[in-house]
Amino acid sequence: MTYKIAVLGGDGIGPEIVAEAIKVLDAISKKYHLEFEFNNALIGGCAYEVFGVPLPQETIDICKNSDAVLLGAVGDWKYDKLPSDVRPEKALLGIRKALNLFANLRPAIVYDELTASSPLKSEVVSGVDIMIVRELTGGVYFGTPRGIDIVDGQKVGYNNMIYNENEIERIAHVAFQTAMKRNKKLCSVDKANVLDVSRLWREVMERVAKEYPEVELSHMYVDNAAMQLIREPKQFDVIVTGNIFGDILSDEASMLAGSLGMLPSASLSDGKLGMYEPIHGSAPDLRGQDIVNPIATILSAAMMLKYSLGLEKAYTTIENAVKAVLKDGYRTKDIFTNKSQTLVGTAQMGSLIAQKILE
Ligand code: IPM
Ligand code: MG
Repeated sequence: MTYKIAVLGGDGIGPEIVAEAIKVLDAISKKYHLEFEFNNALIGGCAYEVFGVPLPQETIDICKNSDAVLLGAVGDWKYDKLPSDVRPEKALLGIRKALNLFANLRPAIVYDELTASSPLKSEVVSGVDIMIVRELTGGVYFGTPRGIDIVDGQKVGYNNMIYNENEIERIAHVAFQTAMKRNKKLCSVDKANVLDVSRLWREVMERVAKEYPEVELSHMYVDNAAMQLIREPKQFDVIVTGNIFGDILSDEASMLAGSLGMLPSASLSDGKLGMYEPIHGSAPDLRGQDIVNPIATILSAAMMLKYSLGLEKAYTTIENAVKAVLKDGYRTKDIFTNKSQTLVGTAQMGSLIAQKILE
């Protein structure tokens, strides 16, 4: 069996962390006698340099002709002055939209080995296992009209937070189905005390809930959710929320797990094609120093095996290898907490995990 994987390294640290995920996939291919065909394509600033656009059609076509997409990260401060439609971030939103990846799963799991890496007390974070389901192709990220205009002699900037019933319904189904496979607790996060769009969100969540009577649905305002995630994160099983709230809460949740460098994600559509990327950014200041944590990307590759390729066992193999390497005391800088541990670089962390898989 040969699986076609589009590989989009992107900018900053993107290519280095993706290289480590590929090392791990090569180990999986040996262990389970599978073939991966990796097809590289440009996205973000690196694509802009070559094509003058951050998301060339060629890249979209390569993705569409693949079984799954593995992405590093996009963006660099050197593109901050570019017009918004050719900024690297625009490419990320563009590819999500082009592939209709409306459902973004962001698991925040605190591995026992890493409870000390979290800035929160161990008893608060130990055992945390939350799945954030973030709507990814709607909301204020895509709403129109948008822009910066001159009104009465001064600039006015505006975006529009819009959801229609269909968009809310389809993400609701993903969230309820995810909850059904877990502890059957779903918390929908919104700002329904202020925003009309949130009131509709809540109404549709309630409606869809009728189809999943086993799932216990609760609602929480986003400001409260931000606080509760720190106060008592273990109260959460599955969280479903809109695009921007999910962006913010998932970064917050990553610190429960000790580091932004630990959280993977899967972006899914109705079909099998999905895109897999760490939740963190391109960290251009850390590029090329062999210091960043590749685990978020390696776990994203693991999610790819599970969600797009149906290789559940290979997923577990990677997750166990990550845990075993952490247990052996190896740490990248971001999760290094004491001298009994061994500090390793990006490439060595990837190699250790790949070796574990083959042991
Ligand atoms: C993320 C990132 C992106 C987002 C940026 C880079 C556009 O922060 O995947 O969480 O806001 O969705
Ligand atoms: Mg983000």
